[in-house]
Amino acid sequence: MLVHEAEQFITIMYDELNRSDEEKAQRLEEVASDIKATGTYELTEEELTYGAKLAWRNSNRCIGRLFWQSLHVFDHRHVRTRGEVKEALLSHIAFATNEGRIRPVISVFPEQGVRIWNHQLIRYAGYETTDGVIGDPDSIAFTNECRKLGWEPRFGAFDVLPIVFQIDGEEPTWFDVPPELVVEVDLEHPTFSWFTDLALKWYAVPIISSMKLEIGGIEFPAAPFNGWYMGTEIGARNFADEARYNMLPVIGERMGLDVTKLASLWRDRALVELNEAVLYSYKKAGVSIVDHHTAAQQFKKFEEIEQDHGREITGYWPWLIPPMSPATTHIFHQSYKDEVKKPNFFYQEEHYQK
Ligand code: ARG
Repeated sequence: MLVHEAEQFITIMYDELNRSDEEKAQRLEEVASDIKATGTYELTEEELTYGAKLAWRNSNRCIGRLFWQSLHVFDHRHVRTRGEVKEALLSHIAFATNEGRIRPVISVFPEQGVRIWNHQLIRYAGYETTDGVIGDPDSIAFTNECRKLGWEPRFGAFDVLPIVFQIDGEEPTWFDVPPELVVEVDLEHPTFSWFTDLALKWYAVPIISSMKLEIGGIEFPAAPFNGWYMGTEIGARNFADEARYNMLPVIGERMGLDVTKLASLWRDRALVELNEAVLYSYKKAGVSIVDHHTAAQQFKKFEEIEQDHGREITGYWPWLIPPMSPATTHIFHQSYKDEVKKPNFFYQEEHYQK
């Protein structure tokens, strides 16, 4: 099983990089004999790096895959202590943020021993109170876990959660991300001056930390990775979903729309203004972001490049289409095969009971 996965990966990588048959055969032999002798094998740093990039290229739900080769891979497979993990996570945040010129980064931790509890390294807390939910409803379960571990709630709408991780099944530890490392963008609208009254903001870098990376049969349960945001993730989901910050009703009202009639399309109008505010504010703050039309064009380029290389493009349509005006992009009018190629990222069990 492992030897089979390993062989497949080594073959793909060494072929794509035009390595000689001799080099490939030698590596395949080495991997097979290591697995035979020890039950496993170690990826070289180059294999880890290329494998992580392939995992991005194979991510069927990602519209941003044109840039897969630009991924920065930090090899933290040898960290052992809590201090080392913390330091690695903080450098990930700083390097990726890069004062707003966001760089795609993945930090790969040991195959065993490190588990990160957060869904994203930076995310806002959610509190269930008698007056309703404060903050991000999606974070309520994790926020409760943090509170059990002694983290103090602040009951704000945008409290950055601590980072929680576990080493070797020991008690989890947590730490607050130093505020100076957390770049955030205050939202304003290019023409609606009242928009700032809403006091909305969002963080610069989405760093998914809950997924497992798999390369050549080797699994890395802790491998946080990030790109930059596509505006609709924030404007058409995080702030718009009824089960998230649910901002459309108040925006519609402030716009003076008839929010009593669905057919007035007030939700749609509010959505457009909110999304314009997101793109405008990130741009103004010098924080990388992409609109969904440009992202779709970039994805088209990716499709063409993959085709030129004789690789069948895979994708998961319901996630690839942007959540607003989907039919204005070519993606909507096409179908994609949702075949899961490896290397890839996979969902894994939460580390705490939901
Ligand atoms: N949709 C998630 C969020 O709004 C982020 C997922 C990753 N997104 C990205 N652009 N790399 O926080």
